[in-house]
Amino acid sequence: MDLHLIPGATPTAEERAAVDAALGPPESGWDGGTRRSGREAQVARGGMDAARRRDLLLPALHAIQGRVGWISEGSLNYVCQRLSVPPAEAYGVAAFYAMFSLEPRPKTVVHVCDDIACRVSGALDLCREMEKRLGPPGEAKKGASATWLRSPCLGQCERAPAVMFQSAGEGRGDWSLAPATAADVTAGIDTPRAASAHSGVPSAPQTLAPRAPGLRLLRRVGVADPESLDDYRAHGGYAALRRALAIGPEGILREVLDSKLVGRGGAAFPTGRKWEAVARQPVRPHYLVCNADESEPGTFKDRVLMEEDPFAVLESMTVAAHATACERGFIYVRGEYPLAIERLQGAIEQARTRGFLGDDILGEGLRFDVEIRRGAGAYICGEETALFNSIEGHRGEPRNKPPFPVQVGLFGKPTAINNVETLVNVLDIVLEGGPAFAAVGSDQSTGPKLFCVSGCATRPGLYEVPFGATLHQLIDLAGGVRGGRPLQAILLGGAAGVFVTPAEIEVPLTFEGTRAIGATLGSGVVMLFDDTVDLQDTVLRIATFFRDESCGQCVPCRVGTVRQEEALHRLAAKRPLGSAAQEALLIDEVAQAMRDASICGLGQTAAGAVQSALRKLHLFDGKGSA
Ligand SMILES: Cc1cc2nc3c(=O)[nH]c(=O)nc-3n(C[C@H](O)[C@H](O)[C@H](O)COP(=O)(O)O)c2cc1C
Ligand code: SF4
Ligand code: FES
Repeated sequence: MDLHLIPGATPTAEERAAVDAALGPPESGWDGGTRRSGREAQVARGGMDAARRRDLLLPALHAIQGRVGWISEGSLNYVCQRLSVPPAEAYGVAAFYAMFSLEPRPKTVVHVCDDIACRVSGALDLCREMEKRLGPPGEAKKGASATWLRSPCLGQCERAPAVMFQSAGEGRGDWSLAPATAADVTAGIDTPRAASAHSGVPSAPQTLAPRAPGLRLLRRVGVADPESLDDYRAHGGYAALRRALAIGPEGILREVLDSKLVGRGGAAFPTGRKWEAVARQPVRPHYLVCNADESEPGTFKDRVLMEEDPFAVLESMTVAAHATACERGFIYVRGEYPLAIERLQGAIEQARTRGFLGDDILGEGLRFDVEIRRGAGAYICGEETALFNSIEGHRGEPRNKPPFPVQVGLFGKPTAINNVETLVNVLDIVLEGGPAFAAVGSDQSTGPKLFCVSGCATRPGLYEVPFGATLHQLIDLAGGVRGGRPLQAILLGGAAGVFVTPAEIEVPLTFEGTRAIGATLGSGVVMLFDDTVDLQDTVLRIATFFRDESCGQCVPCRVGTVRQEEALHRLAAKRPLGSAAQEALLIDEVAQAMRDASICGLGQTAAGAVQSALRKLHLFDGKGSA
């Protein structure tokens, strides 16, 4: 197939260099290099071979965006030539992601989080100040070196308000700043920092002196140097892999099944059953994917694990790969996590050099390697099949299921996909045995659990408790409500979760306990709202989030999220169509259609928080506290 490139659009030398740095130099005229003369010119290179590398499209687009600050038609043409991708498709992919720009823009873009946790800690004031200093969002003044954009949750909610700098240019990179003030942001534009330059605000208060006893998932956080493989080993690292090699794939599967571990990514699917299904597939190869897209508003647990204990993520992936017969793994990390990406990349390089990844791991003949794939700002890419499409170089749109990933996953092959926290739990399971793990927590919710406490908590942060601790106990661990103010509501499970009331805080934090009160643990979000918070504003922000993040593939979700937001705006403005009760009815009908007919979990959960706010908090009917 001939590629119809965009006429007259040629890359600049800088754009070419950026793409070549990501893909390697072109081999011939067929993939964008120098066309040779004579017989060489008759031999087709590139073409199908290049098309097979389509999964490099996302890294190539990142390379251009990171070097130049936007993706021009010329640079898109060059990538298309290198990978044999039609420009219309590459354009569709580039346009899908919030971190890519197809228009020229300043080299520095400040993404200011205006999502729900940051709103209760001054995000809207910060946005107003940014507007004064840099102009309206996305509208850079002529010749300005920076612009700013409002952003959904950046996964730094415990340090709200948060910003992320996207800084293009050689030797520059992205970095986060949280908590951020307008003055810090202005200073940061002129003096970019490394991703590892910390704000100093602790993410895991339990790991500070005096350390909470018995931490498991957080055991190395604040103790071991996340940049040193030796230190990881000195703190127990790679003991689980040795035991996994000793007991073999069947032994690992038995322990994981016995542990009753279920996924921590939101869907709570039994991990042992998933792995067994992949291991038994005769089709080869099998793939392992670590889902580190973590974009659920209020969630930051996986970020802390990746930043503070990156070798544990790699070790647990290697154990999973052994159990499921995977030789190649991917970690799909959300693009807004520059430090996690840097730490994981460093860990992968050290692990490869020292024989913990590669063709003969620990001299035991085990072959497994890991690549990082960086997301580019799309919540939907956390949905497992959307994530596969994203890695494969397509728009991050979910696929219909069945077939399920265990049969037809990444590149159409059997795939085990797990959340970061799920995987890290496997280390203890292998070391202690499944039954010992299952003895922690409740019958249906076993092991330890990470909770992301944010909003109006005195000590927001990541907390580890055994399943079964009550919401009340968790809130106490976080020091209660800041300033001792009354608690108005709690959002459990993130934007895709539901609101619960102070009357419900004795609920045990287990899958079955929350289910019993019509709630969900989701990704472990516990966001507190005191009596000063405008919850109507919070609920509207949630509705906007879903409207923005719907991939638009199926009608119930694409239209339903818009209708839901419109109805809430009418209610907030006290201009309902008919009465407030009729609007509530309309919201319920739309919710039902989204739940019944959306193809993925985004549409199915987009109304949960809104409906719970209407029912439990009586937000818009004049009976609530707001
Ligand atoms: C809209 C949407 C977003 C999701 N985002 C994530 C995510 O960021 N991280 C994650 O692990 N799972 C996410 N999931 C769940 C995944 O589809 C999948 O269930 C999970 O990665 C499986 O891993 P687990 O069994 O270890 O939980 C999301 C699901 C939906 C519907
Ligand atoms: S439910 Fe929404 S996000 Fe999911 S596939 Fe359909 S349109 Fe896309
Ligand atoms: S970082 Fe702002 S809400 Fe999460």
